[in-house]
Amino acid sequence: MGTAPIFPGENVCGIIGYIGNEDAAEILLDGLKRLEYRGYDSAGIATIDGEHISIKRIKGNIALLEKVLEEKPIYGKIGLGHTRWATHGQPSEENAHPHRDCTGTIVIVHNGIIENYLLLKEKLKKRGHRFKSETDTEIIAHLIEEYYHSGVVHRSCDDLEKAVRRALKKIEGSYALGIMSSREPDKLIATRNGSPLIIGLKDGNYFIASDVPAILRHTKDIIYLEDGELAILARTGVRLYGQNGKLIRLERRIKRISWDVNMAEKEGYPHFMLKEIHEQPRAIEDTILGRISPDGADIHLEEMALNKNKLKKINRIIITACGTSWHAGLIGEYLIEEIARIPVEVENAAEFRYRNPIITDDTLAIAISQSGETADTLGAIREVHQKKGRVISICNVVGSSVVRESDAVIYTHAGPEIGVASTKAFTTQLTVLYILAVYFGKIKGTLNAEQAKKMIADLRRLPQKTEEMLKQEKEVIKIANKFYRHRNAIYLGRGKGYPVALEGALKLKEVSYIHAEGYPAAEMKHGPIALIDKNMPVIVLALKGSRYDKILANIEEVKARGGVVIALATMGDRKIKEKVDEVLYVPETSIPLSPILAVIPLQLLAYYIAVKRKCNPDQPRHLAKSVTVE
Ligand code: G6P
Repeated sequence: MGTAPIFPGENVCGIIGYIGNEDAAEILLDGLKRLEYRGYDSAGIATIDGEHISIKRIKGNIALLEKVLEEKPIYGKIGLGHTRWATHGQPSEENAHPHRDCTGTIVIVHNGIIENYLLLKEKLKKRGHRFKSETDTEIIAHLIEEYYHSGVVHRSCDDLEKAVRRALKKIEGSYALGIMSSREPDKLIATRNGSPLIIGLKDGNYFIASDVPAILRHTKDIIYLEDGELAILARTGVRLYGQNGKLIRLERRIKRISWDVNMAEKEGYPHFMLKEIHEQPRAIEDTILGRISPDGADIHLEEMALNKNKLKKINRIIITACGTSWHAGLIGEYLIEEIARIPVEVENAAEFRYRNPIITDDTLAIAISQSGETADTLGAIREVHQKKGRVISICNVVGSSVVRESDAVIYTHAGPEIGVASTKAFTTQLTVLYILAVYFGKIKGTLNAEQAKKMIADLRRLPQKTEEMLKQEKEVIKIANKFYRHRNAIYLGRGKGYPVALEGALKLKEVSYIHAEGYPAAEMKHGPIALIDKNMPVIVLALKGSRYDKILANIEEVKARGGVVIALATMGDRKIKEKVDEVLYVPETSIPLSPILAVIPLQLLAYYIAVKRKCNPDQPRHLAKSVTVE
């Protein structure tokens, strides 16, 4: 049996750490303020003065933390700070970082997800450790404590370093860590695996941070830590060790950043939308993390909170959502029906809530929402509950209204999405829907062990494929530069490609204000074909699959009427080049996962066309990130 599948980790929070000659609290607080734009729900800082540790944590915003610190200042020239954006485990003071061990000497902040934390927690509990939070982070402090105080590590000036190294060997998952101890108050330890962490250097003052903006006011000299590296920051300098434990010469690694604060918030990208498009490999990886058993044979979805016997009896699923989340639902219909053979209906939440829907005992409703605050989606959930039905939600924001009102929730771990047009939330929703389809498939017996294993293996390769997809960006830019002056566009797809076409069209109209429509490719001849001429770009999803030949026939129909076709084709499909005007290649993946890759060039196309048209893709006119009115 695999280890703990649920993970109250946080992969998108902010870390700041400081050691030097100045008052740490002020620097930490300022750093946290500069990370506020990322979104968070709780925050905290800790400092060491002499051998005395002070910690202040709050649920709420930095202004509140500042007030608390004004009333009761904390002192010291070394410290750690953190903003938490809960991905599981409610936002609360107890769950806010920094966390400590039982003795209170070890202080840590963490971004990431510790996959085997439940197993470790059980072991540590048996050894007498007492836990104060629901987080996975706290186990790291206790694990270090095990080696630090138990005499396993011989007492010397580098006890903490040795104890940390031993503890890291036990941890599975992703992390960026800042660690300090009141027994060694002149050093800060930083290490990472799968979560970003940087070191800032400025004569006798050293910083760690999850993001550049946190420390940009102090220094532009930065080292980007790599996975498996560990750094010891002291007032006398920084020692950096490679994965093999060998010292690394710092000079080679220092980079001078030329970004201003505005650019730094976007990690050098000109807009949040582009940054978030590029975050998709990481976001998808995080959404998968902890949900696959170590042997790759099983899906863990303990957060479903509905027992398997009840789930077995489900014979009908209703998916309800708005906007991009609704499009995710439309793809979910194909996935769940195909894989688990449960009939699925998908309905826009605003329609669903007012049409007196039929909810029977064997119906399960799934609500999808990035923000968890969309009024119509909430209305739909209430409608299901009024009819005594059950709702599970797929949501990105812990503690949001949708989550609170649902019977169970499966989180997407996309991290805060700031661009109004949803991108990484969509692909992580699709990732969850795929996971859910395989999960139901196993419960319902429509998938045998071998088939499930194959589907899980495909899923594991998805983040890598997403990276490959993003490498086609230059090709997308070329096409955007050719087509940005057009006033209309049609997107066509079949099967799962149809909702992808809808989403591609939505992205284009949202951010570039070009009129765009998505259609099932076969429907074109029932009307839209009348619009085809040389001024109408038609974007066709023509990936290899069961309906490939039919899609080629649709392409011929457009070409025969003088239309301009941009095809999305499977990497290696040379034949299609002869038939269309432009091709964007999508890496090969399994058919059920293909929508996740196929939507990415469409997101990029919309983005680059918007930029060419001098529209602000992050804040399209008249749109809101979260629509809390009907
Ligand atoms: C707004 C946003 C869309 C989003 C929709 C649903 O219209 O601009 O990007 O898809 O709401 O939001 P939700 O947070 O429920 O997914």
